[in-house]
Amino acid sequence: MLAKTIQFFKGQYWGLYAQVWDVQVHIMNTLSPERDPRRVIPTGKPGAGGDWDKYVYMPPVESDSRSPCPALNTLCNHGILPRNGRNLKFTELQPILADAYNLSPSLTFGLLNIIAKMFEKDYFHDSVDLELFGTHNVIEHDASFARHDNYIQPDQSVPSVDLIKAFLSSATGAAVVGHQRVRIITPADISAFLRQRRVECQKLNPQYSLKFVHKAFSSNNSAIMYDTFGGRVDDLRTWLTEERFPQGWQPRYTKRYGYTMMALNLRSIQIALWAQPPPFVVPPRRPVSNGLYST
Ligand code: HEM
Repeated sequence: MLAKTIQFFKGQYWGLYAQVWDVQVHIMNTLSPERDPRRVIPTGKPGAGGDWDKYVYMPPVESDSRSPCPALNTLCNHGILPRNGRNLKFTELQPILADAYNLSPSLTFGLLNIIAKMFEKDYFHDSVDLELFGTHNVIEHDASFARHDNYIQPDQSVPSVDLIKAFLSSATGAAVVGHQRVRIITPADISAFLRQRRVECQKLNPQYSLKFVHKAFSSNNSAIMYDTFGGRVDDLRTWLTEERFPQGWQPRYTKRYGYTMMALNLRSIQIALWAQPPPFVVPPRRPVSNGLYST
């Protein structure tokens, strides 16, 4: 009982610590110049300059442990995290995730702390095998866009290529990059696809469930993905289906101190509200051409 109470207060303390830290990082981001888009990943870190070929991509073998998360699996497939996906310390995941996707240390620390607690682990001392993250209805949930439901596809470590194709085909946005026009999956597209998935999965899956907390995870994952990839369909196709970084790719999010919890929450709320069925406001889905990445 005492141990549980101490554990609870420790959790509250670190949660609050991460939030206060995050506000500071968010303010520093707004006041500082952004990173050079060609040097988002720091020199000397895996993927610096977009050079992923140095970290040879190898798809997992049967004995390897993988999760339903493309972000974590990709890091293992390149050998940046151990290729077998086993025995990963939470403290080891934190800086690697932060560097590879330009996430703030406050976000990665805060997120991993909560996740560790959800699996009754200690962030500072424990490790995980990636397959643990596939436990149904802890974080992994129904009506995802990258995996069929657990009822239909019990092995949640494998991307559902048909679903990902349909997801990316629903993209309506466009941007100009150099002389090239690229397709963009917009937050409104993502929300529309999630809304449609929820209706379909409810019909197809007799064990369907999607609690509030899982809707929140769903929009969180979509939000981080949208902002770190700038919604670019060409890059997302490789990352989601092969769980590989395209050579030359760097995070499209260029704020100096990385993506914060505050930025994540704002984007998540947008995606979550738009994913609600009417009468919630459903934004018009029309092509945009913003030239955001034309530098
Ligand atoms: C902090 C470490 C992380 C953990 C433990 C984690 C865990 C998970 C889990 C359990 C899922 C399955 C959810 C579902 O059923 O759909 C998931 C999905 C996903 N994650 Fe992560 N994740 C992490 C970080 C990230 C990051 C940094 C990104 C983006 C750069 C990301 C992007 C995604 C995407 C796009 C999905 C698929 C969502 C869907 O299919 O609807 N995750 N993640």
